[in-house]
Amino acid sequence: MIEKLKTLSTEALAKVAASTDTESLRAVELEFLGRKGRLTEILRGLKDLSGEEKGQVGKLSNEVKIEIEAAIAAKFGELEHAKFAKLAETEWIDPTQPGEKAERGTLHPLTQFIREAEKVFEKMGFAVATGPQIEDDFHTFTALNIPADHPARDAQDTLFIENSDGKLLRPQTSSVQIRWMQEHKPPFRIIAPGRVFRKDDVDASHSPMFHQLEGLVVDRDISLANMKAVMEEAVRQLINPDAKFRFRTSYFPFVEPGLEMDMSCTICSGRGCPACKKTGWIEIVGCGLVHPNVLKNVGVDATQWSGFAFGFGLDRMVMLRHEIKDLRLVFENDLRFLEQF
Ligand code: DAH
Repeated sequence: MIEKLKTLSTEALAKVAASTDTESLRAVELEFLGRKGRLTEILRGLKDLSGEEKGQVGKLSNEVKIEIEAAIAAKFGELEHAKFAKLAETEWIDPTQPGEKAERGTLHPLTQFIREAEKVFEKMGFAVATGPQIEDDFHTFTALNIPADHPARDAQDTLFIENSDGKLLRPQTSSVQIRWMQEHKPPFRIIAPGRVFRKDDVDASHSPMFHQLEGLVVDRDISLANMKAVMEEAVRQLINPDAKFRFRTSYFPFVEPGLEMDMSCTICSGRGCPACKKTGWIEIVGCGLVHPNVLKNVGVDATQWSGFAFGFGLDRMVMLRHEIKDLRLVFENDLRFLEQF
């Protein structure tokens, strides 16, 4: 028995010494000292031995056990130390190196444009208003004097929401005029930039989602001259200080008279090119004097107050400003495009 213990001890110590990682060391520990370990079995068998032998074997087994435990603990420390030493080498960092440069994003060209437009109009005394993108018939059509047979009221043009009691995605920001006038007392001087939705197919100049910037001024004795001054000044500041303008009559149910403002083509400076269909002019905004029915619909006395309204196509203006030829680029969020602004 004594001999057996001695060989067991030598074997165990050799195995401990040969362990190259903590896992194999744990396996050795289990083999000898575990619940069913080889030394544990011997200790458990002690009770069957005779008195004298029991004393000797017992004493030696305890010594062997202590020796193996100490060897394992020492080896474990050694292996752990080696592991960290290696880690310090492989994961070494140089704290004196300069930091990595963080990439800085930029605002989307459309957002940049909206923020600048807000500044330009704020300087002229305008407040910035917002309204919901999910609208109802009253704010989108009825209050804006849009007749029952107008094409915008048709599901062909407007995106109605199913089972929603007539709710729709607003096809124009003009609905914000109504919301503002219902909640405030005149005079009014607001702009309302925002998203609008129409049942358009996607091509180089159409998208079912695009952006408009609505404007509304209601005050005493407002005339077309006031409108012309404000709109021309805004476009000069936002797109081209040398732009020329012309007004053409047009029809929008919520204004009377209704007009469209064209600006000289920024790409060919008015000489005529494919972008302006060789006319030298580009249509940028619908406008006019607020129709008395609209004022009546929101409880504003049309004998006391008058005003003008306008609706810019924002995407169109961003395209003109940066000479972008395809609207899809503005919405695709391709970084190669966006990083240019
Ligand atoms: N809402 C019109 C559109 O989507 C644009 C517009 C025209 C707005 C004339 C106005 C306006 O406020 O007076 O085509």
